[in-house]
Amino acid sequence: MSDSSKWIKVRNSNIKYYETVELYYKNPAGKVVLYKPDGMELGDESLDKKYIDTFYIKPEDKTKCLRAAQKGFSSNLVNNIISKDTVTLKNELISIVDETLSQPRSGGLETAPDLIESIISGYSAQPDIIKNLARISFADYSTTIHSLNVMALTIGYCFYNRMPAEETRQYGLAALLHDLGKTEIPGEILTANRGLSDLEFIQMKKHPSLGFNILKATGIDLEIAVQGAKEHHEKLDGSGYPEGKTDISECGMLLGIIDCYEAITNDDRPYRSAMQPMEALKLIKEDVTRGKYNKRLFETFAYSLTDFNRKGKQKNFF
Ligand SMILES: [Fe+2]
Ligand SMILES: [Fe+2]
Repeated sequence: MSDSSKWIKVRNSNIKYYETVELYYKNPAGKVVLYKPDGMELGDESLDKKYIDTFYIKPEDKTKCLRAAQKGFSSNLVNNIISKDTVTLKNELISIVDETLSQPRSGGLETAPDLIESIISGYSAQPDIIKNLARISFADYSTTIHSLNVMALTIGYCFYNRMPAEETRQYGLAALLHDLGKTEIPGEILTANRGLSDLEFIQMKKHPSLGFNILKATGIDLEIAVQGAKEHHEKLDGSGYPEGKTDISECGMLLGIIDCYEAITNDDRPYRSAMQPMEALKLIKEDVTRGKYNKRLFETFAYSLTDFNRKGKQKNFF
């Protein structure tokens, strides 16, 4: 490859998973050269252990790398949960999910079910840690962090309700992928530190349908996720979008509540500060009273926040 701009810089946190990928680096003359062939571990003794801070891959290896990182991370997750602190764990998850969501149409989504599967086993092993994932906030709040938080809260809800494993997997996936359509909304609209113009808001409101189309185009079994992506902004009184429908799937209704809760408790955009959990629940409860959200799902979600694992021992919130 002669054009050096085509080489893809890789995230250092993922390199340890790239055993099956060729890694390149830039030599002092600025030429990109092979560092490690496919099939060799970074710790291999035959490798020249020079200090390299930036590695590159060939563009055609992008999907292969993403799969390797997702797989490696997933298979180590239970160990990682025990050995790492929650901030480090969340940082690694952000990096993996960021890559997964950034190229949804090129095969990246296919390993997402495995990722959810391993998060669910991680949850069974260490419920407190997965539960706490959603509570760690980062300054660069993004769609990825929001999606991860919604996923952690949703899996907590499923565990609290003792939902069957398959349904929990589907709901977790639906939560992780609910805002997938935002990958096709211009960045300046997503990160605007101001209220959106009418035109921009119309564009933003397209993300449920865009997500639906992306998910439909993949060959994976994502039936519940497809509904969740399409319906998470619909409201029971018909005031939502994109269709204004009132007949909303259970997953769509639940994600609507959790999405809203996560956004108002973690959203640190400068013009609006984050709310405390109880304050946020009270605000959403007003919308329940107005007929926008399902009361049973809202109350169960609220209880799942206090104790994800012991249904029955409910404190009285309301
Ligand atoms: Fe959304
Ligand atoms: Fe969302």
